[in-house]
Formats: sequence, structure tokens, C-alpha cells
Amino acid sequence: MALHLVTVPGADLTPEQVGDVVELCSSAFGIAYGPLLESFVGRVHVLGYADRRLVAHALWLPRPLQAGEGPWLTAAYVEAVATHPDYRGRGYGTAVMRRLQQEIAGYDLGALSTGVPGWYERLGWMRWVGPLLILKDGELQPTPGECVMVYCTPRTGELDLSASLTARWRPFEVW
Ligand SMILES: CC(C)(COP(=O)(O)OP(=O)(O)OC[C@H]1O[C@@H](n2cnc3c(N)ncnc32)[C@H](O)[C@@H]1OP(=O)(O)O)[C@@H](O)C(=O)NCCC(=O)NCCS
Repeated sequence: MALHLVTVPGADLTPEQVGDVVELCSSAFGIAYGPLLESFVGRVHVLGYADRRLVAHALWLPRPLQAGEGPWLTAAYVEAVATHPDYRGRGYGTAVMRRLQQEIAGYDLGALSTGVPGWYERLGWMRWVGPLLILKDGELQPTPGECVMVYCTPRTGELDLSASLTARWRPFEVW
């Protein structure tokens, strides 16, 4: 079954589409995803439809990140990557991510946090190996145990993956 992909800014989603995204992500991640979704300011969704239903999804939002002592970069920060359980293993998640990776070409880099790094490595993502830091109230807090991955766009310069990677604090999940 072919997957039909559409890319839609969060502000342009219909209430029905928002409901479908929340339902898919709540079930995939085992949490009430609505408040988390609302916290992703400036998000853009990639929606994958089969059988006339939303079966696969990912989104990105702009997020400043600093690699080492370099300038703050604008990352496309990826969230809510999910495929409906009945539709997994058919390449739908891969198709959604490939579309997303094309769409974020204008960003300095892509970034995400994951528990399944092997799945993203297949798609060209690289694991950040240096310290992951969160800037909160002017202080840098280490976040050991997190797995953050980055994706090079045509705009990405040389990256030292063993340097620190810093993001500003945010509610819910910091990475
Ligand atoms: C992760 C997830 C989005 C994958 O969606 P999917 O549509 O089933 O993925 P695809 O069908 O495109 O990919 C399947 C391929 O990935 C491979 N794969 C699956 N898990 C993998 C892993 N941990 N490491 C490497 N490869 C993996 C499979 O072997 C398969 O490869 P093949 O196509 O060569 O046979 C889906 O399992 C999901 O929604 N999980 C729950 C939510 C989640 O964990 N999201 C990601 C967290 S950031």
C-alpha cells in the first residue's frame, strides 16, 4: 500500500488532524501527547496516510543548539516520530523521515533525542558523543544518559561530535 505524504505547518492543521496526531503519538509513546505537542512552537508536521488514515508521523521545530564554543545554530529538532502498530515494518516511518530530511535542508542541522539510535543511523543520523548540556538560569547542567543524534544538511559545516552540545532548557523533556 502506497503511503501518501503531506507536510503541514502546525498552525494549518485541522482540528481533526491534530486529534489524529495526538491519538497516534499518545499510543506510540504511552503518554497524553496533547500538552507536549502544544509546547512545540513553530512545528511542521509530516503526515503519512494509508487506508485514508494517519498511520505514520514526524514533526520538526526550530531549536537553537550550540556545538562546542561555536555560534548558536538553528536546528530542525525532530519529535513525535511514530508509526501505528498495525502498520510498522512496511517502510512508512522511513518514508516519513526521508521526506522530513528533505524538508529541513535550509536548517543548520537536524537533531533529535531517541531510544532507538540504530533506526536513525540507517537514515544517516549520527550519535552525538560529547557531553550534552542544558542551559538553565545561566547555568550549564550535564544530562548524562541521553542519546542525541544529528543529521547534516547542505548548510551544516564541520561538526566535532566529541565537543559539547548545548540546548536551552524547555519544559517536559529537555532533549
Ligand atoms: C520507530 C518506528 C517509528 C519505526 O516505524 P516503522 O514504520 O515500523 O519503520 P520502518 O518500517 O520504516 O523501518 C523498519 C526497518 O527498521 C529496522 N529497524 C527497526 N528497529 C531498528 C533498530 N532499533 N535499529 C536498526 N534498525 C531497526 C527494521 O529492521 C526494518 O528494516 P528493513 O526495512 O531493512 O527490514 C515505530 O517502531 C514506532 O512508532 N515506535 C514507537 C515510537 C518510537 O519509538 N518512536 C521513535 C522514538 S524517537
